[in-house]
Amino acid sequence: MSTLFLQSEVKNPYALYEKMTAERPVYWDQTHKIWAIYSYEACTQILNHTAAHIPAFPSNDNLSKYAVLIISNLARLSNGIQHEIAKETAGILFSYMKTVGVNYILEELLRKELLGNPINWVDLVCKKLPVLTVLKSFDFNEKDTLLICEKIEQLVKIMQPNKTAEAIESINTVSEAIYDITERHLVTLPFYKTLIDKISASYPISLEETISMIVSNLIGLFIQSYDAGRGLLSNSLLQILSKENRPEDKMDKVRIQKIVLETLRFDPPIQNTRRIATEDISLNKIIIKKNDSILIVLAAANRDPKQFANAMNFDIERNNNHEHLTFGNGGHMCVAKHFSVTITTEALDYLLSNFNIILSGNEIAYEPLINARLPQAIWISLYNLNQTI
Ligand code: HEM
Repeated sequence: MSTLFLQSEVKNPYALYEKMTAERPVYWDQTHKIWAIYSYEACTQILNHTAAHIPAFPSNDNLSKYAVLIISNLARLSNGIQHEIAKETAGILFSYMKTVGVNYILEELLRKELLGNPINWVDLVCKKLPVLTVLKSFDFNEKDTLLICEKIEQLVKIMQPNKTAEAIESINTVSEAIYDITERHLVTLPFYKTLIDKISASYPISLEETISMIVSNLIGLFIQSYDAGRGLLSNSLLQILSKENRPEDKMDKVRIQKIVLETLRFDPPIQNTRRIATEDISLNKIIIKKNDSILIVLAAANRDPKQFANAMNFDIERNNNHEHLTFGNGGHMCVAKHFSVTITTEALDYLLSNFNIILSGNEIAYEPLINARLPQAIWISLYNLNQTI
């Protein structure tokens, strides 16, 4: 039984997760030498365990100095005191984001001439809207926004634990330009000095280290918003367009938000995350040995019948859907959970309020990734519902 597979190659991973949660909730995969954790209870325990650390990437001499700097500072990738500093930095940066209108960005992305023609929702909107929203909320100018938006797909490969030579080349090609633009822009922001003072006052790190921590974690917000944000916009639209969820009457924002929340549980863009045991860990009467690798299957925990009633059903009225583990749990929990739900709800509300949406019948193909379930393309046609657009 393999625990590591490409989402592109498995039609229904949830059937496999259901079986494993029932039969082997804590499972040693001898082929890949990794523990796979499926049940809600065991996943939550590992996510909150002090001896379950984020695994370090294998060192790679071919990465540029900018790529190395970003990797070494990201909250998502660090442990211990380094994580505390990085998480606080990411959190403060996040709190300084100003609200920008998703409608305004969507109006630009969905230009009039596209109406009535098949468009790929993934390329046109999902890969752009979350990153554009973050960039605009930090007031990046149009030229820099365009460049970062264009190059981010190459930079996100920085999060792959084992990078191919091709991925390294992509990362190296764009990391200096993105680092440079972000650093220059940060200096112009009104909260820049306050942020530096806050971090330097709390932690014994040099000014230079503080600056690279801030630059890297702002870049981290672009990176994190790209794949996961794209997946939530895609998977939620698919749920909205599925026959079962399309009521005869109009969808209001409250209903859309409930669908987004249940999509996070039912068909999450991020399916799993990893840890390494820094001490022996006892779990379900099994000992996970020090230095063993762990795969936390968040998407399986989300379908655990011990946690969610009728877990295999898409049910927007279940009263504990928000307990899903798609944003993680514990110290590394996502800083953007509300933001992600809000922009997705706003985007889908804009779409449904303005257009009649026709989904092409093609079967959805997924990206060849292990950790994320991301549709490669969703072909839709939009027809105006009112004349003001
Ligand atoms: C649907 C959208 C998203 C999903 C499903 C998601 C999921 C996650 C998960 C699972 C983690 C924890 C990983 C772990 O514990 O190993 C995480 C961490 C993080 N996320 Fe998100 N994320 C989303 C959107 C975003 C966005 C839009 C941003 C930024 C604007 C963001 C910023 C972060 C950061 C900075 C962390 C690191 C926190 C830390 O390690 O302390 N995420 N996210």
